[in-house]
This record gives sequence, structure tokens and C-alpha cells, in this order.
Amino acid sequence: MNLFQRLFRSKQRTDAVSTQFGPGNPNGVIGMIVDQERAWFRSYAANTYTGTGAVVDLGCFVGSSTIALAEGLLANGKVASPQVHAYDRFVWDDFLKAWWEEKAFPPARVIDGSVLPEFLHRTSRWKDYIVVHQEDLNLTRWNRAPIEFLLIDAMKSAELAQAIARAFYPYLMPGVSYVAHQDFAHFFTSWIHLLQFRLRDCFEVVADVPNSSTVVFRCLRRLTADDLNSVPFSSTPSSEIKEAFAYSLGVVSEDKQTNIIAAKAMAYIHRGELEQAQQTLRTIPADTRSLGRGLENVRAILAERMQQAVKQGG
Ligand SMILES: C[S@@+](CC[C@H](N)C(=O)[O-])C[C@H]1O[C@@H](n2cnc3c(N)ncnc32)[C@H](O)[C@@H]1O
Repeated sequence: MNLFQRLFRSKQRTDAVSTQFGPGNPNGVIGMIVDQERAWFRSYAANTYTGTGAVVDLGCFVGSSTIALAEGLLANGKVASPQVHAYDRFVWDDFLKAWWEEKAFPPARVIDGSVLPEFLHRTSRWKDYIVVHQEDLNLTRWNRAPIEFLLIDAMKSAELAQAIARAFYPYLMPGVSYVAHQDFAHFFTSWIHLLQFRLRDCFEVVADVPNSSTVVFRCLRRLTADDLNSVPFSSTPSSEIKEAFAYSLGVVSEDKQTNIIAAKAMAYIHRGELEQAQQTLRTIPADTRSLGRGLENVRAILAERMQQAVKQGG
């Protein structure tokens, strides 16, 4: 199994429930998030959102997170003009295609390699409340309006994480705005831990959505360009990795701890420091279970990389 297949499988635990109609998924939406996440987003938008800033959904795919937010806003009596800004490049790439086929969903509406038609179809009931942005988030510039809720499910590389933070974080309102990191406990996206660690004075954790990878932060102070123009994550010293993951382990619940350690091992694998990754994984007992098979995936990736290193060496 290659890395692409592993990433795809790591989202499978969530898929099993996300396409079923049920109390947490009344619309039977297709998505890669679990019912608890959708319920949390809906409840936040209905009960906590004050209407003083925009609601932004980064990496909306075919709309499951967008719909949850739109439904919540419509139930919120304080909101005069419910609106969700939904961002995605909508590229029908191999990862999304394989995931869709594995689930045996009816064929997706795709035109010229764009899955935007499927998003528009699935979100059509809420279309008056959604502003669609078909953009590459590496290049996006936000319109500079204050942001009250930023849902991030698109920090799929270190560069993308820094681009998203630079484009959107400066518009967060201290004391008011929330940032929901959907991939906080995902094994692959280790850069999110470095990002939030570097900005630890600017955020506090306000929610940890059970049985999911989502952790939600509240903004404590306005972010400046200096906060966001730090060294690239790829050239961070090893000492910072240790500190960053110690910070993350200190802010998440028990059910996410193993995944955070798996993400720490993945941080070393991304840097080619396989010995460090091995040492990190040794701290976890062999039979430990993890969310979305995150630990098993990292163990398998490390084994593959070590084999490759041996072959190249010999
Ligand atoms: C895991 S999916 C999001 C799932 C979605 N939030 C849900 O509720 O099902 C990640 C999304 O990020 C998008 N994405 C990845 N890289 C991107 C980029 N550079 N610009 C815009 N979107 C991107 C993908 O197209 C994909 O739809």
C-alpha cells in the first residue's frame, strides 16, 4: 500500500458514518468528517456565533462541513444575513476519486476535472447562504473583512499551512474568533502542531470534538505579519519539534494522544530523520489503538522508508 492509499484509508473510519442518514447527519451528506464534527459545527453556528465576522470553510469538498455551518446559521436568531464562504480548488484528483469509488457512491458530477458541479448540486438547498471560492489556497487573498469562524480542513502540506495562516489569521478577532483545525489529530499533517505552537500565545483551546481529529482554538490576540513570517517548518530545529508536540499533547483529550505522537513521528519522517521517528513510536505500546488507524499508518510508512533507506545504502 503506498502513501496515497494510506492517507485515503485514514479517512475511512469517518466515512462509515458520514453518509448515513441519522440524528447527526439529517441530510445524508457525503463528506470526510464524522457526525460529531458536523453536530459541533452546526451547534456553534446556531448558538455561539455572534455575527460580527465571516464564517469561512477551507477545504469544503462536496459541502458536508458547509451545510452544517449553513444550517446552524439559519437557526441562529442573531444573524441577519447567514453566509458561509466555502473554499476549495475542486480538483477531482486521484485521492478524491479513489475515495469516492471505494465508497461506491453514485458517479460524482465532474466537468473538465472539476468537482464543483457536485458541490453545487449537494449544497443547492443552501445556495443563497454560500459564497463559493474556487481557488488554490496557496495563492488565496482574503477580502480583509474580520473572520469570526475559520474551519480549516486543507492544510495538506507545510507550505499550504503557512499560506493559509498568512492569508486568513490576520483577520481573526481577539476574544471572539474561533479556528477549528479538522486535521489536528491526523497523523500526516505534523506542521499544524508547529504552527499552533509558534502561535501559542495567540490562541487557547476551547473544544476537542470527540471521536474525531478536530480541535478548536479561540484567538486571544491580533496576529501580526511578524507572527506569521517565521522560518519554514522544514528547517525548524529538532528541539522545536519536541516542544511543539509536548504543547499539543498538553492541550488535547486522551482519545487524541496516540494520534499526536503518531504525528510527531511523521514530522521526523517528513524530515528524513527515521531514527528519531522510530524512537518516538517506541514510546507507544504495541497494541495501542488510534483514531483512523493513524498509528498503524505511521508505523507502516516508517517501515517502508527504512527499507528504502537500506536499499539505497546497499
Ligand atoms: C479532506 S477534504 C475536506 C473534507 C470536507 N471538509 C468535508 O467536510 O468532507 C480536503 C479538501 O481540501 C482541498 N484542497 C487541498 N489542497 C487545496 C488547495 N491547495 N487549495 C484549495 N483546496 C485544496 C481538496 O480539494 C479537498 O476537497
